[in-house]
Amino acid sequence: MKIVIGNDHSGVEYKNQLVEYLEGKGIEIINVGTDSVDSVDYPDIAQEATKVWVEGKADFGILICGTGIGISIAANKVEGIRAALVNNEVCARLSRQHNNANFLVLGARVTGIELAKSCIDAFLSSEFEGGRHATRIGKIESCGGKF
Ligand code: RB5
Repeated sequence: MKIVIGNDHSGVEYKNQLVEYLEGKGIEIINVGTDSVDSVDYPDIAQEATKVWVEGKADFGILICGTGIGISIAANKVEGIRAALVNNEVCARLSRQHNNANFLVLGARVTGIELAKSCIDAFLSSEFEGGRHATRIGKIESCGGKF
């Protein structure tokens, strides 16, 4: 499995710990996040990471900013991206089962690293259930964001 991971300056050490954790499980990581604490703009990171996924170069993505809010808003502007900001294992699991999320989003300043690892495990071990959930995903895709 390949995962693209992106983070802004608030999540460098957090990202490093998650990369080590994921590589320890044999997962290949494509790191498009910053490795410096110098300030960057999270929309740029969201763009880079989602581009990798859209091009079919990764199975899933993980995005990290301080709260996870900004980078999830930015990622969800990209067609085909369903980025789920989570802070517990239940939401991580349901984001796959019900929402077919392709990006997991974490807030480095608000979600502890061990909880983040549990969320990743729940996300990666869960499958989309389809059925009524597929109908709902279809409605999200067809709305196009305009009235
Ligand atoms: C950066 O300081 C911070 O605003 C960003 O990481 C994120 O929390 C935005 O939603």
